[in-house]
Amino acid sequence: MTPLILGIFQYIGPNGTVGSAWQHPADTSADFLKISHWTTLARTFDQAGLDFLFLADSYGYPALNGELLEASVREGRGIPHGDPMPIVTAMAAVTEKLGFILTTSTTVEAPAANARRFATLDHFTDGRIGWNIVTGSSGATAAALMGKELISHDLRYDMADEYVDVNLALWEGSWADDALVLDKAAAVYADPAGVRLVHYEGRYFATDGLLNVPPSPQRTPLLVQAGASGRGRRFAGRNAEAVFLAGGDPAVVRANIEGIRAAAIAEGRGAEAIKMLVGALFITAPTHDEAVSKYDEMLAMSTPEGAAAIYAGNTGIDLLALDPDLPLQQLNTEMGQSNLERYLGSDGRPAPLVRDILENFRTTGINGSVFVGSPDEVVDQAEAFIAETGADGFLLQPHLTPQTYDDFIGLILPVMRARGLAKPALEAETLRERMFGAGPHLPPDHHGRRFAFGA
Ligand SMILES: Cc1cc2nc3c(=O)[nH]c(=O)nc-3n(C[C@H](O)[C@H](O)[C@H](O)COP(=O)(O)O)c2cc1C
Repeated sequence: MTPLILGIFQYIGPNGTVGSAWQHPADTSADFLKISHWTTLARTFDQAGLDFLFLADSYGYPALNGELLEASVREGRGIPHGDPMPIVTAMAAVTEKLGFILTTSTTVEAPAANARRFATLDHFTDGRIGWNIVTGSSGATAAALMGKELISHDLRYDMADEYVDVNLALWEGSWADDALVLDKAAAVYADPAGVRLVHYEGRYFATDGLLNVPPSPQRTPLLVQAGASGRGRRFAGRNAEAVFLAGGDPAVVRANIEGIRAAAIAEGRGAEAIKMLVGALFITAPTHDEAVSKYDEMLAMSTPEGAAAIYAGNTGIDLLALDPDLPLQQLNTEMGQSNLERYLGSDGRPAPLVRDILENFRTTGINGSVFVGSPDEVVDQAEAFIAETGADGFLLQPHLTPQTYDDFIGLILPVMRARGLAKPALEAETLRERMFGAGPHLPPDHHGRRFAFGA
């Protein structure tokens, strides 16, 4: 089997992706506002040979009808949540190989501001940066915070296509490859013939200007996407080079992956143009029984109220207010759709009841896949999951920080390496080269190449 891509999931908050694990004595995630917390983690991941650290983000938070959800505040779930951008340079400074994938929403800042920040970060990280493009989970509260109305779901994605185009036009088109001269003797910094203003006029976004940063190692950061609704999959087919998917039922994950691959082909791209990375939680210990105790301990820190708050913030649906003995009656939302579609029943199977949805969300969170057992057992489970779904790798979600990762690195990675499921070691290279063995620039079949200087 080809070695898996292995990334780490974190966000700038007290966390654990099932329940509120910060309360555990061994958990350090409540230190999320200390630089040393992040530099220590980044060094660990870099030295272990993991591919990248992904920092999720949202301006939104759990609230309904203009009211905060108390469980969210009390349990530290979804609130608080810091900005991932500022910490990356500190982590880049203490690492050599680890990639960094950062989330920004297409509904918050002007596209040119986003382009400039990522171009600068691509320089500062020697090409180790990726952009997780989201239209924003918890969209209603994010919009309210910005003093705006919530934009309807599919329109958000239509606008996001243009938002990405403006970024691509600036990254790919502002500077020629050889524009930077840096000739001290001749006093020439850059060749004026190789630098130009970019013109883009869309329905929703436009630019008439220059990306004021010389071309970075990758020019365009690795483009990542994380929404699995029907419209989200089309967006991925057009734009993404990697997709983060929720795990869970392998048949559902497989259908999602096939849908995204078909969307890429419809855009004239190769079937292998997008790497499929599934969010998963690995709970392990030297023995099966110890692993199960860790799992039970985790579930004891996960309340229905906390799970319902996260679900409500993401979908706008309050599971606690619904009849627990009925399936979901609401079949659509203008907020995040993946976490609704996940529970509507498919392939002729009956839709789950509200009480089952809440329990499933309480015990799996946004992970979907939770592998529990001794190192050999969880690697067996993971290997079977990859074979069934056709995924390219995992996004390792935390229960306890750093214990989940220490267990993965110390106990699971050696088993994966022995089975050829994980790379033995990594090169210092750009994130795109890491993911595809090619690069560092966008591949020729990506539509962003049409914006290239001189194209
Ligand atoms: C592993 C994983 C990571 C995600 N990370 C983010 C994130 O950082 N920010 C965000 O707004 N949405 C993130 N999402 C996506 C949301 O859960 C949600 O599906 C999406 O924002 C709404 O789009 P949709 O309607 O296409 O589902 C993530 C999803 C998964 C499965």
